[in-house]
Amino acid sequence: MVYSTSLCACLSLLTVLSCHSHVLPRLSFPKGSPGRSFSVFTNPDVYNTTTLLLSDNEDTLFVGARDAVLSIDVSQTDAMTMKEKMGWSPSEKDLDDCTVKGKMKMDCHNFVRVLQVLNSTHMYACGTFAFSPRCIYINSKTFSMATGASGKPEEGRGRCPYDPYQKNTAITVDGELYTGTVADYRGTRPVISRHLSEGSHVDLKLDDTLGWLEDPTFIRSAYVPSEEKVYFFFSEIGKEYDFIDKFTVSRVAQVCTSDIGGQRTLQKRWTTFTKAQLLCQAEHELPYNILQDIVTLPPPEGASEDETLFYGIFTSQWQVNLGRSAVCAFSLKDIKKVFTGRYKVLNRDTLKWSTRVQEQLANPGECGLHNASDNMLRFVKENFLADKSVPPVNQALTLVSPDKSYSNIAAQRVRGASGRDYTVLYLLTESGYLQKAVLLKNGAHVIEEIQVFNQPQLVKNLLLSVSKGAVLIGSSEGVISVPMSNCSYYWSCAECVLARDPFCGWDPVMKLCTDISSRDHLVQDVDEGNVSAQCTYVNPRSRSGQPRTVTTVCPPGEVMPVSLNEVVRLQCPEASHLAKRYWERLNSQLSPKIYIQSDDSSLSFVATPSTLGHYLCQAEENGYTQTLVVYHVKQKSSPTILPATPNRPQSTPTTEAGSKPPVATTRLITPKQTEPRPTPDQVDPTVTLKDSPTTTTRKSRNFTRLSRIDEENSRMTEPGENLMQADQPTYFQELVVVSVLLALCISLLLMIAFNRFRYICQSRTVPQTPSSRRDAEKGGSATPEERESLRGHSPRLEKHNGQAPNGQSRNGQAHNGKSPITLSNNMLNSSNGHLPNTPI
Ligand SMILES: *[C@@H]1O[C@H](CO)[C@@H](O)[C@H](O)[C@H]1NC(C)=O
Ligand SMILES: *[C@@H]1O[C@H](CO)[C@@H](O)[C@H](O)[C@H]1NC(C)=O
Ligand SMILES: *[C@@H]1O[C@H](CO)[C@@H](O)[C@H](O)[C@H]1NC(C)=O
Ligand SMILES: *[C@@H]1O[C@H](CO)[C@@H](O)[C@H](O)[C@H]1NC(C)=O
Repeated sequence: MVYSTSLCACLSLLTVLSCHSHVLPRLSFPKGSPGRSFSVFTNPDVYNTTTLLLSDNEDTLFVGARDAVLSIDVSQTDAMTMKEKMGWSPSEKDLDDCTVKGKMKMDCHNFVRVLQVLNSTHMYACGTFAFSPRCIYINSKTFSMATGASGKPEEGRGRCPYDPYQKNTAITVDGELYTGTVADYRGTRPVISRHLSEGSHVDLKLDDTLGWLEDPTFIRSAYVPSEEKVYFFFSEIGKEYDFIDKFTVSRVAQVCTSDIGGQRTLQKRWTTFTKAQLLCQAEHELPYNILQDIVTLPPPEGASEDETLFYGIFTSQWQVNLGRSAVCAFSLKDIKKVFTGRYKVLNRDTLKWSTRVQEQLANPGECGLHNASDNMLRFVKENFLADKSVPPVNQALTLVSPDKSYSNIAAQRVRGASGRDYTVLYLLTESGYLQKAVLLKNGAHVIEEIQVFNQPQLVKNLLLSVSKGAVLIGSSEGVISVPMSNCSYYWSCAECVLARDPFCGWDPVMKLCTDISSRDHLVQDVDEGNVSAQCTYVNPRSRSGQPRTVTTVCPPGEVMPVSLNEVVRLQCPEASHLAKRYWERLNSQLSPKIYIQSDDSSLSFVATPSTLGHYLCQAEENGYTQTLVVYHVKQKSSPTILPATPNRPQSTPTTEAGSKPPVATTRLITPKQTEPRPTPDQVDPTVTLKDSPTTTTRKSRNFTRLSRIDEENSRMTEPGENLMQADQPTYFQELVVVSVLLALCISLLLMIAFNRFRYICQSRTVPQTPSSRRDAEKGGSATPEERESLRGHSPRLEKHNGQAPNGQSRNGQAHNGKSPITLSNNMLNSSNGHLPNTPI
């Protein structure tokens, strides 16, 4: 009964886990791994190299650092050298003033946070300058400070934050600077503004007084030339959700570059500012509501601008999704559709939002409203929040990280060997790993992760140099340049195909995995990773995907001299996190009575005449099996007593599916390279092993006693069996008791886990039903309005006889108050029907 219960729980748990589209990186390279090296630029006189700007030819990287702007030569991918450094520090007096105001000395430097190309001859930079932001022009040729029109450094207020830890965004379009930042010392006056405008094109701004922004965190901005619009991405408090306290929402906002402000109404203010919610949420789940970073992926060549995509990283305000991140994509088409749709209206007396009921006097967000009538502009002033939210592309999350928080993202389209384009995402984790993922039809595949930082970094930036094939990262540990791929790491056709890296293909002639741009006719299968279909013709004998016969792959192997009755432990290297490893012997099954296979896939057994011989560690991944390592366990100092190996191949190791040279096998044996990041549960506390092929003699009392019996029993035919038999009379009862207790414990744990996860699974497996029906079924105490709003639509007034949304939610709750409360409802119901305010 216990057994069936635990089995049941186990199965349910499995379904729960499988309904998450979690992605595990196939390979993991801790810092210093030879397979995935990268270059780091550091200099003893340079700190906080966080703001990055690439020159047009991608040969030079400009870096905004602490008290300096640098230019670094990045034309060679394997080395970065400093070309020039332009110091830009606050004076002693500025620093004193800053510390007097109570700021920490180390934050009172000048941290360069804006670095943009202004025109063909000049760049523009702004820094925090001891909590008193300043901006300068930089002559690109001489890389020296140039004075602007006024002849002295410009005030940086509204262009750069005061606090170096505050996020901001800036972009230049036609020599004008568009920024999103806070414009005061305390960081409470957010503003989206335009600077450096000339002539009738006046500087414009959006100030906080009209409630246009609600405590925003600016993330990024993007210019879309075909629309003549600048888009701003940020998160802020979603005031339209007035029934939830401090609900964070992510937004996209837009302004037209042609905007010059109104003539009387909205003078020197944006007339084209509108904003909409970005929704990163799967059906029936809490939203990932806090934007962390977002990047523009231009449309494929020849496609319409509408196919421009924005890939954003989101985290969640709610405990259930703590420590996880989701990636969502938004299309320009959807954003445009939302901005041309209906708008909500803010009642300035009650500060409540509602869907528009008044007559539509103008189209908010339309370019060219600057000389519209006062009436129209007043209308625009009150209708700037789009009614609909921007849904993610395909109405689904692109990727969910199971246990990592992402902080930065970069995206790229890569043409595969087949000529198809693949989207590759680079994701930087808070813990300092750079993940590379390729987006496929049935989900994302994380090709690898590389540790790039020693310490988590508060301020960092990610930038791609496509022409140089490098991912550039700015951090306080230096500037890091990671090659986008290292195809030569994959030593066989199978590995090359299994990696599913669109950059890499197998050359069947040269027998190496190489960059697909380097030559034609390479073997690649990013979509399926199907080794037997791709690698067969290399070696016709292994076609048809039949299970390989051991004879084809049995190289002499690593020789392991052992003494009889010694405990032998064979280590199996990990070729990939996605592979299942198991052991095989030549022509025989491994009886669990004799062999113990641990969680780290090492194999332990007692050396006896019958256990001597060849052992193969096999890895099964994506339907393909390959031998990772072969050991030849033979008796020490008596080479005559070799086990009978009738099938032992005399020939040299046959290459199979693209040859695995013995060199590669030896390389694999070193666990430092191939077993990156031994996670705590992989480390066996009882046995300490320095090198992989090791034998350990167990010294425990039981064992010595048993081995004595073993020795006495000199006529043994099957020593392993005898060993077990000798054990049975003494320990059988204990074994049964312990097993039952263990089973009970496990099933209890599984039940708890099952209950905890049940709601998630329900929400994913229950077919979509109208929210009202679902409420009735599950006795939901969250009102349809709340659920609706979580899905991104705010309460509709007209549906409920003009009742205020607040009232509705209370009514709804009272109505359903007696229904049984399930776990999911608890979360929506912690206090007065408000969502629990648990920001992370
Ligand atoms: C690529 O991998 C090969 C094989 O592991 C290694 O020797 C080489 O150093 C790696 N190159 C880089 C740039 O990481
Ligand atoms: C500057 O770098 C130091 C470490 O070198 C770090 O502790 C500090 O947080 C960084 N400051 C900023 C504003 O990034
Ligand atoms: C670029 O901008 C600077 C600063 O406004 C100005 O002095 C310079 O003439 C401009 N160069 C060109 C080519 O427009
Ligand atoms: C609108 O502004 C443009 C200049 O941007 C001006 O030429 C035009 O006369 C204005 N139209 C009206 C109706 O004021």
